[in-house]
Amino acid sequence: MYKKGLLIALEGIDGAGKSLLAQNLYKDLSKKNIDVLLTKQPGGTHLGKKLRKILHEKKEHVSDLAEFLLFAADRAQHFEQIIIPALKEGKIIISDRLSDSSLAYQGYGRNLDKEKIKVVNNWIMQNKEPDIIFYIEIDTKTAHQRIFERNQNLTSFEKEKAEFWEKTIYGYNQIFKDKNNVFYLDGKKTPEQIKQEALNIIFDKLNKNK
Ligand code: TYD
Repeated sequence: MYKKGLLIALEGIDGAGKSLLAQNLYKDLSKKNIDVLLTKQPGGTHLGKKLRKILHEKKEHVSDLAEFLLFAADRAQHFEQIIIPALKEGKIIISDRLSDSSLAYQGYGRNLDKEKIKVVNNWIMQNKEPDIIFYIEIDTKTAHQRIFERNQNLTSFEKEKAEFWEKTIYGYNQIFKDKNNVFYLDGKKTPEQIKQEALNIIFDKLNKNK
């Protein structure tokens, strides 16, 4: 048995392969009888699903600051309802996106005040950092090909221009450059390879926590 909960965040631009990795990790860990919870931001709670719809569709103009605050509201609800209780129960939580998405997308992509975003994020997350952040690296061209191949209605973010994505990728690299809980995964490897690399890192961490 592993003693305490573990918070794992998956980060990357749209089309990097986060959701597939999240599902693959969930399946493998569950098979090993590990108490694992799969969740996402935005949309992990009932309120979050409504906020996600607003942010995806953007039927009316949403200011950049309002956009951030809607993601922040989703995150606050998600933390209180899902993450904190699951950590207390000692679960392994896999969150498909967490606070660094706001810093990368709204802070760098939209040029909002990064220090203010950090303050709000820390407030929401009770100053807790994820134990592990997996950042799936992918170039914008490959990411876009994948998004178009999915053949679904594009979200407001997926319609963004290349410049937005370059700024967001630059942002992720800036945010992660001095952190020791971040592991880069090559988004061009096969889903199986990516999953295996991530699992090795998770088990390494779990064994250290024993
Ligand atoms: P979603 O369909 O959940 O996309 P993905 O599977 O890529 O996570 O939509 C979430 C979108 O919102 C995605 O484009 C990233 C963006 N986002 C932000 O801009 N800021 C945030 O804080 C979060 C959590 C997501």
